[in-house]
Amino acid sequence: MKTIIEPFRIKVVEPIRMTTREERQRKIAEAEYNPFRLKAEDVLIDLLTDSGTGAMSTHQWAGVMEGDESYAGARSFFRFEASVKSVFGHKHVIPTHQGRASERLLCAAVVKPGDVIPGNTHFDTTRANIEASHAEAVDLPIPEARDPENLHPFKGNMDLQKLEDLLNKEHHRVPFVLITATNNSGGGQPVSMANLREAKKVCDAFGVPLFLDAARFAENAYFIKLREPGYQDKTPREIAQEMFSYTDGALMSMKKDAFGNIGGVISLNSDAWAEKIRTLLILTEGFVTYGGLAGRDLEALAIGLEEVLEEDYLRYRIASTAYVGQHLDELGVPLLKPFGGHAIYLDGRRFCEHLPDEQLPGWALSVALYEHAGIRACEIGNVMFGKKLPDGSWQWPALDLVRLAIPRRVYTQSHMDYVVEAIGELYQQRQSIPGLEFVYRPDVLPHFSARFRLR
Ligand code: F0G
Repeated sequence: MKTIIEPFRIKVVEPIRMTTREERQRKIAEAEYNPFRLKAEDVLIDLLTDSGTGAMSTHQWAGVMEGDESYAGARSFFRFEASVKSVFGHKHVIPTHQGRASERLLCAAVVKPGDVIPGNTHFDTTRANIEASHAEAVDLPIPEARDPENLHPFKGNMDLQKLEDLLNKEHHRVPFVLITATNNSGGGQPVSMANLREAKKVCDAFGVPLFLDAARFAENAYFIKLREPGYQDKTPREIAQEMFSYTDGALMSMKKDAFGNIGGVISLNSDAWAEKIRTLLILTEGFVTYGGLAGRDLEALAIGLEEVLEEDYLRYRIASTAYVGQHLDELGVPLLKPFGGHAIYLDGRRFCEHLPDEQLPGWALSVALYEHAGIRACEIGNVMFGKKLPDGSWQWPALDLVRLAIPRRVYTQSHMDYVVEAIGELYQQRQSIPGLEFVYRPDVLPHFSARFRLR
């Protein structure tokens, strides 16, 4: 059989409220053209993020009932710890309430002002946490990653020559190297096993620890199975274990590949760093056996981490994301290729060729998509990463993307057919998409709260 079906059936449904175009035009104008400021109930298909938006399984919900809410030493913590250790393999497992809490704690514990943290491409909260520690976040993706049409199978890879050059010059300023797999800001592209293995060798030569941002490690493992010679007959779990074996530690937002609505973790080998992090954890997150989570969350995450490595799930997940990409591609819609694991990325600049960078083509496209069809997407481009230079001019990122992030186990194929049809229609009318300009732009993480007006 060629058809890949959802490896689950639906037991509980959540109604979607239908809206009209006029209503949506009013709502987005009231939100000052920022989709983050919309009420979720005014959205038909919410592709803003795949983070915390997944559907939990019957097993996870049963785990919720099993949650041990003891303040210290809860059974659920030990279940969580065992589940994380069985895949990640590091010595210490520290729960946190979400990914950026892991980032903040690691940065507060080990990053000094003036330090440099190299990565393939840091996610926006990672970059913000590094910069908040007065350190520099340096992205070293391979050159192929900058070309949206390049079909390199592992566009998430890090440029190891550049890493070596950087470490040669300033390894004393580098507390750790961080590889994000899959590379979210670079288009959900995977990192190869070979790249991780070699990165570890380079880091070892300079005595610098290698960390993994593991938010989507299982999707990355499945891409390795599909694309990297020698891994076809290995299970996703075996591949993931090998990935982590090249690292000294990992940060994970468990709202992605652990099917959590909330949760995160820091996993690492260093006793000294673990101690520092746990001291900070108690200060702001909670005791070391819950780290800002309820026992029921820990239980659900422990189970989610097992479920995400099931091969039937990963086959469906990667194929259903590619399904959206393939159909949009057939309609001529400009996309980032190859298709990522958790999302399809529209190329804002090529979609809205009539809009100059100053008019924020990707963001304008996300607004038009909401007005046209009630679909909420997330710009990862000019608004998120644009920089105002001291002379008042703008520096724009290499790519101005609009991400259609697909929540895990939530939408059906007909929802995705609707998305494809809507974007195809909008592409036919693309000349009519109006540009935008900032009314308000905060300096840190501007996309969450910026406000805009039509040009
Ligand atoms: N690292 C990566 C690669 C991420 O994609 C995210 C979050 C984080 C860290 C931070 O985790 O949200 O739990 O604090 N990404 C979400 C997204 C928000 O929409 O891509 P968090």
